Amino acid sequence: MFTKTLLQAASILPFLYSTAVAQTACNNSPSLCNRPYNNITHLGAHDSPFLRNEQTSFSTSGNQYYDTTTQLDAGVRLLSAQVHHVNNSDGSEAWHLCHSSCDLLDAGTLTSWLANISAWMDNNPNEVVTVLLVNSDDASAADLGAQFQSSGIDKYAYTPPSVSPPQTWPTLQSLISNGTRLMTFVASLQTPDANFPYLMDEFTYIFENEFENEEPTDYSCNPDRPTDLTTPEQAAQSGRMFLMNHFLYSTQLFGIQSPNASYIETTNAQTGLGSLGTRLSACTSVYAKPPTFVLLDFVTVGPAIASIDLSNQVSDAVGRKAVSAEPLEEIVSAGSRPGAPFFAVVVAVVAALALGL
Ligand SMILES: *[C@@H]1O[C@H](CO)[C@@H](O)[C@H](O)[C@H]1NC(C)=O
Ligand SMILES: *[C@@H]1O[C@H](CO)[C@@H](O)[C@H](O)[C@H]1NC(C)=O
Ligand SMILES: *[C@@H]1O[C@H](CO)[C@@H](O)[C@H](O)[C@H]1NC(C)=O
Ligand SMILES: *[C@@H]1O[C@H](CO)[C@@H](O)[C@H](O)[C@H]1NC(C)=O
Ligand SMILES: *[C@@H]1O[C@H](CO)[C@@H](O)[C@H](O)[C@H]1NC(C)=O
Repeated sequence: MFTKTLLQAASILPFLYSTAVAQTACNNSPSLCNRPYNNITHLGAHDSPFLRNEQTSFSTSGNQYYDTTTQLDAGVRLLSAQVHHVNNSDGSEAWHLCHSSCDLLDAGTLTSWLANISAWMDNNPNEVVTVLLVNSDDASAADLGAQFQSSGIDKYAYTPPSVSPPQTWPTLQSLISNGTRLMTFVASLQTPDANFPYLMDEFTYIFENEFENEEPTDYSCNPDRPTDLTTPEQAAQSGRMFLMNHFLYSTQLFGIQSPNASYIETTNAQTGLGSLGTRLSACTSVYAKPPTFVLLDFVTVGPAIASIDLSNQVSDAVGRKAVSAEPLEEIVSAGSRPGAPFFAVVVAVVAALALGL
């Protein structure tokens, strides 16, 4: 009798322990479960699928060192990407993730990227993820919705109750309990489609500061988009969530812009001129609360997550996989040159111009 009770207790203990751990952390922390979606600072990877690593021969168009799945493992919860229209050689059409142009950097189809995110969400059932698509070639809601359906990620999509910013957003726990853990914003989606009500027009719900910055002294907390918001007061009163862009561009040969990697260890740090930590403090003062989203290049460097945890007052983070905070550098050897694809495109463009094409 006594032995049997002990055995039962012993078999139930690991179960209690594992459910306690698995059930109580939301987005890596138990303290975030009961906070509304818009009362959290979400770490974002700018141009998440555009990589600067071996896979792209260290393309200077790449914004991230590690792929989307690794970013999610490291604590990133907002993923942005640009969607472009592509004509396949067989006459069919597709939607690809490309940096400015599909000749410069093509990370594959939107569907395959969404399927990767969906697989990660399957394996991480207590995590709320946000996808932000830059609609470069004006895809319709039906075009994009078809990719969401074929990837299978639409099963997680959250649908807002109305086409205007709500008074307050649901808590992470209620999104998780309802099985609606995917927030999807599109910049821009002028015409909503009743068949795809989960595709939210970004600037209906979110405002951003200026994103084109080249010097660490250039950053501003003022609203830049949507353009009808001209002061922080207007932006705050509009009820929109604040997305803080925090990355630097370098202007290369022929005016082509690429992410500034040489200053990244300060850009993503907690201290230093134009660091994430100092900009979060500055913008938190302006709006009397931290931004809801922070969008970064090379998001694993810093580590940026330290500033985000501070902003969220999280000191009990669990379930993240460690990723190196070091920038990746190409080891240049005979036969490999940095940024080879970029230079190949520049050479092709210059040759075309010279030939008058
Ligand atoms: C969340 O709400 C608390 C309480 O109002 C506030 O102190 C905190 O700054 C808010 N954080 C964010 C990211 O909105
Ligand atoms: C794809 O083809 C259409 C016509 O079918 C054309 O208008 C469009 O410019 C082409 N797009 C690209 C990226 O070549
Ligand atoms: C999706 O994941 C596969 C397998 O890890 C990877 O090869 C591919 O590059 C990923 N696709 C995108 C668009 O990130
Ligand atoms: C959860 O789902 C129920 C039933 O569909 C709905 O009434 C409720 O508003 C949802 N809650 C959230 C936070 O979305
Ligand atoms: C990156 O920004 C820093 C700080 O402004 C600057 O010193 C550096 O030259 C920039 N790097 C590139 C490649 O433009």
